[in-house]
Parts: sequence; C-alpha cells; structure tokens
Amino acid sequence: MFHIFIFLIVPLLAASFSFIIDAALKWLASNASPTSKKALLNKLLDNNHRLEDRHEVALVFSKLVEQDGAGSWPPKANHDTSLWPASLRPYSEIYHEMSPLLPSLKPSLDGEANIKRIKNFRGLMREKLAKRVKIAQVQDILTGFEESSFKNAQSQATLAQDTYNAFYCCIAMLRHAYRWAIIPAVTVAQLETVIDIPAELVTPWAFLQCRFGLRSEGSNITTNFLHNFTSKGDYVFKINVGMPDHIQRAEELFARMFHEIEGLALPIYFEMVQAITSFDRGDKASTLRHVENVNVQLREGLCVFYEQMHDGRVPKAVWMSYVQGFQAWGVGRIDDASGEFTKDGGLSGSHLLLFQAVDAFLGMGRYLSAADFTRFVPKRQRDLCDALRRHTPRNVLKLSGSLYEKAGGETRDLDARIASAFKQIADRMRVFRAAHRTRVMPYLKQPAPERVLMTAGKSVLEETTLEEALRPLDMLLVERLNQTM
Ligand code: HEM
Repeated sequence: MFHIFIFLIVPLLAASFSFIIDAALKWLASNASPTSKKALLNKLLDNNHRLEDRHEVALVFSKLVEQDGAGSWPPKANHDTSLWPASLRPYSEIYHEMSPLLPSLKPSLDGEANIKRIKNFRGLMREKLAKRVKIAQVQDILTGFEESSFKNAQSQATLAQDTYNAFYCCIAMLRHAYRWAIIPAVTVAQLETVIDIPAELVTPWAFLQCRFGLRSEGSNITTNFLHNFTSKGDYVFKINVGMPDHIQRAEELFARMFHEIEGLALPIYFEMVQAITSFDRGDKASTLRHVENVNVQLREGLCVFYEQMHDGRVPKAVWMSYVQGFQAWGVGRIDDASGEFTKDGGLSGSHLLLFQAVDAFLGMGRYLSAADFTRFVPKRQRDLCDALRRHTPRNVLKLSGSLYEKAGGETRDLDARIASAFKQIADRMRVFRAAHRTRVMPYLKQPAPERVLMTAGKSVLEETTLEEALRPLDMLLVERLNQTM
C-alpha cells in the first residue's frame, strides 16, 4: 500500500506542484497586481530555498533576489526619504534642488558661456553638499550596513537594503548631474578628461560600489534605471525637470522600459533555474517544459522593446541630447599607485541582466569584455550569469552530440527536443538583435550640434563622418547577431 503511495501519489503530487508553479509563473508574467506579485514571489523564493540545498544556480539566484533585490525583482528601492536615516536625506534634497538647473531648451554653442555655467552649477552643488552633508555620519551608517551584511545580521543593519538601493540611485544620479552640469551635454564637458568630484559623492560611492562588487566611476543600468522607481512605479530622480512634456515623457519611458523588461524577466530566471536543476536530476521531460517556458516568456519580455522603442514614445529628435547624454560618463581617473589613466563609459542596454542571462543559458560567450562586466554588472548579477553558463543543459547536449537531431523533420528523443527548444530561444534572440540594430542606429544618426559624437555606453569618437564613426558600433551588433545560434 505504502509503495503504491510512493510510486503513484508522490509523482502525481510532484507533477501537480510543478503544474501549479508553471501556472503561477505564467500568471506572474501577465499583469498581476503588485500585492499578488509579492505573494507569488515569496512562494517562488520558498520553493527556491528548497532547491538551494542542491544547486549552485538556485543559490546564486535567490541570493540576487534576496540581497540585491531586497526580496524582489526588479530590485526594490525605498525612496520615501522620511524612512531614510536623517544624515542621508540631504543628498536627495540636493538632487531635487539642483536638477531643475540642469536642462535648457536651447543648448548653447558658446564654449566660454558653457564653461561658466558648468562652473557655477558644480560650485553650487559643492557648496550645498559641504554645508549639509555630515560625511562622518554617512560613513558610520554605510560602515554599519556593511558590517551587518558581513555578519548576515539584518536586524542590526543601520538601513534596509531597499533604502540602500534608493540611496545608491541618488548618489549615482548626483554624480552624473555633477559630471555634466548642463543638459544637453555640451562639447566642453565632453572634452574633459578628469574631474574633481566632491568628497561627499566620492566616499559613499566607494562603499556602494564595493557592496555591489563594481569598479566604475560612472553608474550603470541597475543604479540609474532599475533603482529609480518606487514600488508603486513612480519615477524619482529626473533629468529634464521643467522641459516640455515630450522630453520628460521620452526620458521616463526610456528608463521605464528597462525596469519593465526586468520585471518580466523574473519568471524567465526562475524557469532557467528549474530547467537546470531538473536536467541535473535527470528529469528531461521537466527540463523540456522549462526550456519551452523560457522561450514563451522571453517573447513577452522582448515585446516591451518592440512595442516601446520607437519614435512615437522616445523621439529620435530628443533621445541623444536629453535622454542618453546624461547617462554617459566619459571621464577618467589616475590611479594613485600606478599613475595609470583609465576612463569609464556610461549606461548601455548591454548591461541589462536579461540579455546576459539568456546568452549564458544558451551557452554563448559574454558580450561584455571582462573589464566592462566588472565595471557595470553588479557582482550577484554576474554570479547568476556565470552559473547559468556553467550549468546550462545545452553544453551537455552539445557534448552528447544530440543537438538538432532530426529524422525526416521529426525530432527523435527528449534530448533533441530540448536542443530544439534552445534553438528556438536563440532564434528569438536573433530576431531581437536584428530589430535592435534596425531600430537604434537611426537614433545615433540624429544631429546634435552642441556636442561631439558620443555613443551608448562608449566614449567620444573622433572619426570624421558620422557614418564612419558609427561603423564600429554597427559591427559590434552584427557580430553579436552572428554569434547567436
Ligand atoms: C535609442 C536607443 C538605443 C540605442 C541608440 C542603442 C545602441 C546600442 C549600441 C550602439 C550598442 C553596442 C555598443 C554597446 O555595447 O553599448 C548596443 C548594445 C546593446 N543594446 Fe542597445 N541601444 C538602445 C536601446 C536599447 C534598449 C531599449 C535595449 C533593451 C531593452 C538595448 C539592449 C542592448 C543590448 C542587449 C546590447 C548588447 C548587444 C547585444 O546583446 O546584441 N538597447 N545598443
């Protein structure tokens, strides 16, 4: 009798549990309310805790969501400054006081006047920071947070992770505001090689970057986009305050697109983890189902790009000057010990976790160089990508030689069906890459007389014609498209 229970009932229960999780994930990918999403996320994490004992990939995934994400994904950021420690609040106040001084509707082409305006803006920000920020107290709070995380004692933490995330965003946005001082960014600022950033923005940045395992002076998609929304979905630290609606709208919609894609990516990560863990325990039917689910849910995530990345929502006429310019960085630092000069880039779509995770799951090499990976992709996001790449069933299938096995157009066994499901994901990514290339290149070709040519995430280019200058970037995109198979 007991054996009947073991052999019939237990598998039935397991199958229905897995069915419930599948159904729940599909529902999560649709428009669930934030409260129900939260409840479901808890369930997913509970389930994941059980997996944690068994598999590295489940462990790094739950670490990412619980630690960096404050129990959620995209990461939670608490922008209610009444709940921030008092000594951190001046930073947010100063951003909101300074940001209306950043943009102008008619960019000036007068270099001398621009130098003066930049000097005034930076001088005022420096003065406000020096007067209102008590740097020793800020340091104490950040040290306390670091120590409590080290001991894994959240109860003793000086601030919660979601506050920490919002503060990270605030410091990142203040640094970019200080860096550019005028929006649209102007040539004289672009041509700077080193800038002297106020100590009040240097000290916390070192703590924040260390916590996220990053090495860049400029910020990244996580800080400026993922952390720049409240849990109600409000966009917080803005660039183009006081500018006409279409400019403000373009700025917000662009940032929101990245946040929304990562929201739809959560069930995809979960499916990838499930695919790997079921493959490793030899359950190929379940692996197949999870790989197929990745493909279905990826379509929803990519639809955000297809439906939103166009002139009607983000006009080409304003993107480079008012949306992207602020997100660049393009100045460097001289290493005290070696005297070596290094220069950091700014934000690029290539930093977004979803694309890196899917590539890793497909068993592809990284798009970002090793240096850029540690400059712009937080440590626990990197760990997830590395683990996915190491454990993807696709590597094993390739080795076993069953890839794309076909007999008269029909796949023969589960291995071949899993391999074919992977191939469908690769095909979907190829379609995205082709569409991305077609959609985005015209944005880079827009004239912006106030500036020298700069590109998404890369530095100033000195080539003579626009076409020539953009060719290397286009080649990067084509190369990645060709690698996707
Ligand atoms: C006007 C908007 C955009 C422009 C002009 C643009 C431009 C570029 C350029 C020039 C590159 C190659 C250089 C680099 O790595 O930074 C790139 C890479 C990339 N971008 Fe965009 N991009 C835009 C929007 C987006 C959006 C909205 C997404 C996704 C939501 C995205 C995702 C990516 C990814 C994943 C890569 C890495 C290459 C690859 O995986 O194929 N981009 N982008």
